[in-house]
Amino acid sequence: MVREQIGGVPIRQLVETYGTPLYVYDLSVIERQLAQLAAFDIVRYAQKACSNLTVLRLLRERGALTDAVSAGELRRAELAGYPLQGDPPPVVFTADLFERGTLELIVEQGVHANLGSPHMVAQLGERAPGREVTLRINPGFGHGHSRKTNTGGTHSKHGIWHEDLESCLLTADRNGLAVSGLHMHIGSGADLDHLSQVCRAMRDAAMQVGRSVKSISAGGGLPVPYAEGESPIDVDGYFERWDATRRELEGEFGHSVRLEIEPGRFLVAESGFLICEIRAIKQAGPNVFYLVDAGFTHLARPILYGAYHPMSLCAPFAEQRSMQEVLVGGPLCESGDIFTQDAEGIVRPQTLPKANVGELLVIERTGAYGATMASNYNSLPLAAEVVIRNGTPELARRRQTIDEMLAGEIVS
Ligand code: LLP
Repeated sequence: MVREQIGGVPIRQLVETYGTPLYVYDLSVIERQLAQLAAFDIVRYAQKACSNLTVLRLLRERGALTDAVSAGELRRAELAGYPLQGDPPPVVFTADLFERGTLELIVEQGVHANLGSPHMVAQLGERAPGREVTLRINPGFGHGHSRKTNTGGTHSKHGIWHEDLESCLLTADRNGLAVSGLHMHIGSGADLDHLSQVCRAMRDAAMQVGRSVKSISAGGGLPVPYAEGESPIDVDGYFERWDATRRELEGEFGHSVRLEIEPGRFLVAESGFLICEIRAIKQAGPNVFYLVDAGFTHLARPILYGAYHPMSLCAPFAEQRSMQEVLVGGPLCESGDIFTQDAEGIVRPQTLPKANVGELLVIERTGAYGATMASNYNSLPLAAEVVIRNGTPELARRRQTIDEMLAGEIVS
């Protein structure tokens, strides 16, 4: 509700130096989260959650490998210091289709591909016979915090439909591709009861592929607490279920099977804060609005999924002020530009201290799918990004200028 500092650095100091809107990532939180996953053989960071090069480099230095879903993310991985080839693969390309240029890149650079569609098996097999590949399977069911993030089941475009596995294995065989592993990311926000079902599906699929399987990946989807009162996931329970599946397969195959996990949100969500300035306060009937200088161009999760993000005020004596229910909105010319709404688009106030124009509002737990989902709608430039390392702020992305935003456009 009230916050003065992030990672030991006063918020006012950050704003004086870097301005608003500003994303701040506390790197110590990312390190703490990564340490919790040490039992897994490989933590493969899903960089789509927060692909800032400074964050990616930190995760590489701390031993995480990475996942890339586009040529742009492959380039980011390289710039963060990942070699594109190795065993185990430092970078895995996961997708449901190959864009033409990206297929070329993957063939030329020898990037390991995790294939989510039968056509990808055929296309890669044709261009790069002899490769090892992994297959992403849609086990026929899914799970997710919203329809848009649930990635299993018949409505999902992701993964090879479990009944098509056999024919993909034949295609792989014909092209001399070795299926060295399986991957199942069934949605963001997995829970443990559901997980047992996923583990069984993984075991069945791996048995169908047989002894060529050297790795299984649990995908991402580890949830984090967003709202007060939500508890963190039982990471040990999560590991134990996957570990039991891996051991069962090791028993069947007579060789070791690597256990990977591919989290995005879990590693970065709680490290991130979006700092904005309250630029107008107004009332519409009973509703009080704090209007800030960040909009859904900077943080799209509320308008897309009705996602809840806790907020706090950074202002003198804020803890002594009376509280009020407020709606928080941004500068965009669109009535949905509200950070306090549910999945149906109904406004849901948050309780915050009374504020004045010019004071700072912090939207918290925005490290995952915040900056990476930003856009330039209404021609608003992208926010600056700062990391806090050992109590010291470092600029990790400078604020986009209007000229940079317009640089690619041609006026004839
Ligand atoms: N692996 C694959 C293949 C994925 O598609 C994803 C997320 C992950 C790993 C990482 O999932 P995580 O651990 O972060 O839940 N924009 C949405 C989330 C979309 C997730 C897309 N894929 C949000 O803001 O909640």
